[in-house]
Amino acid sequence: MVLSAAGAALGGLLFGFDTAVISGTTAALQARFALTDGALGFTVASALIGTVIGSLVAGAPADRFGRKPMLLVVAIAYVVSSLGAALAGSWPMLLAFRFLGGLAIGAASVVTPIYIAEVSPARFRGRLVALNQLNIVLGILIAFLSNYVIAQALPADTAWRWMLGIVAVPSFVFLIVTLLLPDSPRWYAVNGREAQAAAVMRRLGFLDPDSEIVRMREALARDTHGATPRLFQRSYSVPVACAIAIAMFNQLSGINALLYYAPRIFELGGAGADSALLQSVAVGGTNLVFTVLALFLIDRFGRKPLLYVGSVACAAALILVGLQLETARPDGTLVLMGLLGFIAAFAVSQGAVIWVFISEVFPSEVRGKGQALGSTTHWVMAAAITWIFPIVASSLGGWVFFFFGAMMLLQLAWVRRFMPETNGIPLEEMSFRSAH
Ligand code: GLC
Repeated sequence: MVLSAAGAALGGLLFGFDTAVISGTTAALQARFALTDGALGFTVASALIGTVIGSLVAGAPADRFGRKPMLLVVAIAYVVSSLGAALAGSWPMLLAFRFLGGLAIGAASVVTPIYIAEVSPARFRGRLVALNQLNIVLGILIAFLSNYVIAQALPADTAWRWMLGIVAVPSFVFLIVTLLLPDSPRWYAVNGREAQAAAVMRRLGFLDPDSEIVRMREALARDTHGATPRLFQRSYSVPVACAIAIAMFNQLSGINALLYYAPRIFELGGAGADSALLQSVAVGGTNLVFTVLALFLIDRFGRKPLLYVGSVACAAALILVGLQLETARPDGTLVLMGLLGFIAAFAVSQGAVIWVFISEVFPSEVRGKGQALGSTTHWVMAAAITWIFPIVASSLGGWVFFFFGAMMLLQLAWVRRFMPETNGIPLEEMSFRSAH
C-alpha cells in the first residue's frame, strides 16, 4: 500500500519539479530566442495554461478508463515534454513542449491524489495522500538545487537545455514504477469488476476486502439510485462548493506568487540579489520540513484544526511582511522571517490539506470529475495570480500582502462555518449533503 502510494506520488514530484524548473532558465531563454518581456511571460505561462486544460480534461478518462492508464499517459507526457523542451530548436517548439508538460502536471494533480486515496484505508489516508504534497515540495526543492548545480557546471547557453532535460530522468522512473502499480480497487468496484477489486485489496493488505466491497456496492446504490451520476446535481452540491472554496483559498494565500517571485520580494525588503539561491533553498527547505510535520499531524488532529492554526499564522505572517514593505526602510530580517513564517504556516495547513481534502470529499462515482473541478479551480487561480502579481505588486507594494492576509482570515471563517471534517471517515461513508 505504501509502495503504491509512494510510486503514484512521483507524479507529484514531477508536478513540483516541472513547475519550478523554469525559474532558472528565463534569462537564457530570453537571450536564445530573442524574446521580449511579454513573450518570456507567455513562455512561462505556457505550462500554466497546460495545467488548466490538463486538469480540466483528466477527470472523465480517469473515471472511464481507470486511474492507472491515466498515470501512464501522464508519465509519457512528462518524458516527451522534458526531452522536447530540452532539444527545442525554435520558440514555438519550446512553447509546445512546455504546454505538453503543463498538461501532464494538470492531469497528475487530478489522478495522483485520487489514486492514493483509493488505495488507502481511512486511518492512514491523510498521511498517504499527503505524500503527494511532500513530493511536490521535494520536486520544487530539487529543481532549485539542480538548476543551481547545472548553472555552475555549464555555460548559460547550454545549461537551460540540461535544466529542462534532466526532468526526463525522474519522468522515466515514474513511467516504470507506474507500469508496476495495480489499478485502484475502488475504481474496479465502481465499474462492476468486484473480483478484481477484491484481488487488488488483498494485495494491498486490506484486512477484510469482502466487506469493504459490500460497503462500496451499497454506497454506489445509495448515491446514484442506478442512474448515471452528474457532478452538478443537487446531491453533490456540498463537496462541489467545498472543493472550489479550498482550491481558491489555496491560491488566494499568495503561495505561488511568493514561490515564483521570492527573490524579487527579498530584494524589495533590502536583500542583495546574490543571496537569491540561499533564500530559494531556505524557502524550499522550510516548505519541506513543515510538510513533513503536517504528515504526522493530519490524521491525528484532522484537516480542520490544521487549517484553523494555519489560517491565523498565515495571516499574521503576511501582515508582518506587508507592514514591513510599507515602512520607509524595511527590515530585511523581518521580511525574511515573515516570508519563511508564511511558508511554514502554509505547508503545515493548506499545502498538506488541499489535495487530501479534495480527493476524499467526493463519493467514488464522481471522484474523478470532482477532483478535476478542484484542480482546475486551483490552476486557474494559480495562473491568474502569477500573471497579475508582478503588475499589482509594483503599484500596491505591501497592500498585496494585506490582501492575501485578509483572504486567510476569510478562509478561517469558511473553515469554521462550512468545511466538513473528513478525517477518519471511510470514503464510502463520505456523503456530505445539505446537513452542512
Ligand atoms: C500546494 C499548492 C501548490 C503549491 C505547493 C507549494 O501543493 O496547491 O500550488 O505550489 O503547495 O508547496
